[in-house]
Amino acid sequence: MRIKNADILLTRKEMPAKPPPPPLAGASEQTKHSEREYTGAMSTNATSTQTLMAKLRAETSVEHQSLEKTVHLLDPGFTLPLYIETLKTFHAFVAQWEEFGRSACPPNMRETFLARQRAPLLLADLEFFAASPDPNKPQLPDFADPASFLGGMYVMEGSTLGGQLIAKHLEKAFNLSEGKGYSYFRGHGPETGSMWKQFSQQLEQQADQLDKDTVVSGAKQMFTAFKHWIEYNND
Ligand code: HEM
Repeated sequence: MRIKNADILLTRKEMPAKPPPPPLAGASEQTKHSEREYTGAMSTNATSTQTLMAKLRAETSVEHQSLEKTVHLLDPGFTLPLYIETLKTFHAFVAQWEEFGRSACPPNMRETFLARQRAPLLLADLEFFAASPDPNKPQLPDFADPASFLGGMYVMEGSTLGGQLIAKHLEKAFNLSEGKGYSYFRGHGPETGSMWKQFSQQLEQQADQLDKDTVVSGAKQMFTAFKHWIEYNND
């Protein structure tokens, strides 16, 4: 973790002014395919006949791993002050995305999008620790068309899956329970699996009308934007 111990004693307002976040790298920054280390239900083999979800998973595997490395939630020695800083970093990104999505989400996915807002969960988690959100705002990719927006939505919705594992870890690490202080990482709670399935089906149903490479490109941009935002806040 690149957050220094001395830094965590300061609130963000007390910290020295930082330059604005760097511009986003292009979506093609990393194109090598590799399999994620975890086991999931879906195939990770990239073929011409694969489903959109399988393609997304296979072709963003490198970006997921790269983002995962910047998030130190599972590291031994990860402290509560660092966790609270991480909540602030996540809140700023998720809130910005959800605000953007309320106007930019394609109409046929609007109901799905609105039913999955998670910035309020992060706010509640911060409140639990008597901490305030960070007023800084990240730079989101310019999702100019529905296909790339849906790629971004895939990233944010898929994060509920890894969140299950993270939530269990946080319970033990910080002696938390009943979702208090870590509700965001519980995703949609017991509904997480079924809501992921529903979202996956909705994407597949419209896959023929979408340019699949544009969806993947949107997802890569989203992973990269999140990674840059976390790195910026870790420094
Ligand atoms: C320490 C941080 C993270 C860990 C350990 C982690 C771990 C995982 C795991 C284990 C899964 C697979 C769950 C399953 O197949 O049932 C998963 C899926 C996924 N995660 Fe993460 N994750 C992390 C952070 C993130 C973040 C920050 C995002 C995006 C904002 C993200 C996006 C995704 C996506 C999109 C999937 C769905 C993949 C698919 O099946 O298509 N992850 N993650």
